[in-house]
Amino acid sequence: MKIKSTLFILTLIAFNTFSQKRTIQSTEQWRPAIHFSPKKNWTNDPNGLIYINGNYHLFYQYNPQGNEWGNMSWGHAKSRDLLHWEELPVAIPHGKEYIFSGCVVYDKDHVSGLGDPNKPLLIAIYTADYPNTLQEQHLAYSNDEGLTWTKYDKNPVLSINLKDFRDPNIIWHAPSKQYVMTVVKPWEYTAQFYGSKDLIHWSLLSEFVQQGDIDMIWECPSLLELPVENSKETKWVLALSSQGPYKKAVGMQYFVGNFDGKTFTNEAPKEQVNYVDYGRDFYAAIPFYNTVNKEVFWLGWMLSWSYGKEQPTFPWKGQMSLARTLSLKRTAQGLKLKQVLKPDLTSSKPSFEAKNLVLKGSKTLSGMKFLQDKTYIIELRVDASNAKQWGIELGNEAKENPELTRIGFDEKSQEWFIDRRLSGVVPAPGFDMIQSAPLIKGEDKVLQLVVDHSTLELLAQDGTVAISSLRFPTKKESVRLVSLGGELRIKELRIWEIK
Ligand code: FRU
Repeated sequence: MKIKSTLFILTLIAFNTFSQKRTIQSTEQWRPAIHFSPKKNWTNDPNGLIYINGNYHLFYQYNPQGNEWGNMSWGHAKSRDLLHWEELPVAIPHGKEYIFSGCVVYDKDHVSGLGDPNKPLLIAIYTADYPNTLQEQHLAYSNDEGLTWTKYDKNPVLSINLKDFRDPNIIWHAPSKQYVMTVVKPWEYTAQFYGSKDLIHWSLLSEFVQQGDIDMIWECPSLLELPVENSKETKWVLALSSQGPYKKAVGMQYFVGNFDGKTFTNEAPKEQVNYVDYGRDFYAAIPFYNTVNKEVFWLGWMLSWSYGKEQPTFPWKGQMSLARTLSLKRTAQGLKLKQVLKPDLTSSKPSFEAKNLVLKGSKTLSGMKFLQDKTYIIELRVDASNAKQWGIELGNEAKENPELTRIGFDEKSQEWFIDRRLSGVVPAPGFDMIQSAPLIKGEDKVLQLVVDHSTLELLAQDGTVAISSLRFPTKKESVRLVSLGGELRIKELRIWEIK
């Protein structure tokens, strides 16, 4: 009798768990169309971004078994245009070690001596994480464009016996004829540079210690040589990610200076902080390698560690930003990182266009009705306005629980903003916030916004200001132009529907 009732209870528990699982609804309405997201399961950082044989390869932190962080392995997708992605089998599965973030180098001259000398060779260098014990840098190689990888049998290639030591990113530094790895000691706010001729033996070149924002921890560094706009000059930029108790809600910062093959020197005062993106949802961006004409572009993870596990999507969690071409622009406030969409979808003919509009209050233009449920880019160029606040509203005026996401500029505080306080589902406390970024003085007020379902990317002032943000509306939205507290002169409004 006792056995029977225990069995009955067990069956009941099993049934309950099963039906709970079944009731998790798929949330395809929030899946972005041109931003990469895996078909199912969890993703965070992009890894090993590389262009090979007409394809852009995106490896990414991936949990092959579930919709939360864990079992970290490298997922893999490829694309010919950075907009349509084909998901491929898991590239580097975890063993006892988790496969954390890292990069891929095209070993054109087979300097590593690994693999088949007659086939193109890719080298992945990533952090092997032994949970709560040790992080060291491992190598794996591939002779089939990244589909399958062999873990090097003499790993690690670099270890300093530290629990937290991660996220190697490697460039070829032509003047000093060596590979240079940038890697971080997260809790010491330290980036280290190592040099190597063969990608296997690494020796310490120098350290970059505790500059800029050191409130958080440092992760995912990269060293970039960027063109300075309208000049023949290039400058070196050290970019890195941070996380933890956010001071101002931002995840990435950069330093501008020089790299001489040994040391990176920051040109700005040590305390100066430059943020890459003022939104909560842009993290761990790293550049693509082996690109045509050495063009530098990157993409980042569009989510935040502060509420990643609560992202209300199923069966996937985590998505990437669009790719952005990088350069430096001289402004009244010094050199600023400029990020322009790649491909630049705004260089084609707009689907809708209007010039010299004067706006007061809130307006849905008849030409904008087609945008519901679509993926699109809106660009607004404005004249000096006497409005207090202006921009775009995505919303629904339902009598009960109206929803509204506001994107624009505040003339009083002189700040760009994305306000998601009323934007729909609030997955975690604090998500319902205003994210803002200071105006770059002396530059035109141009607002460019990508709307791709749950993802928003605001690139203002020709890409010198960025705010990337998620939001989860539950109702159909219309798009309105808004001018509050006065009149707004719109020089030009352009909209591109992305099909
Ligand atoms: C950054 C990060 C990296 C690490 C990876 C683990 O988001 O914490 O430092 O390699 O994620 O998934």
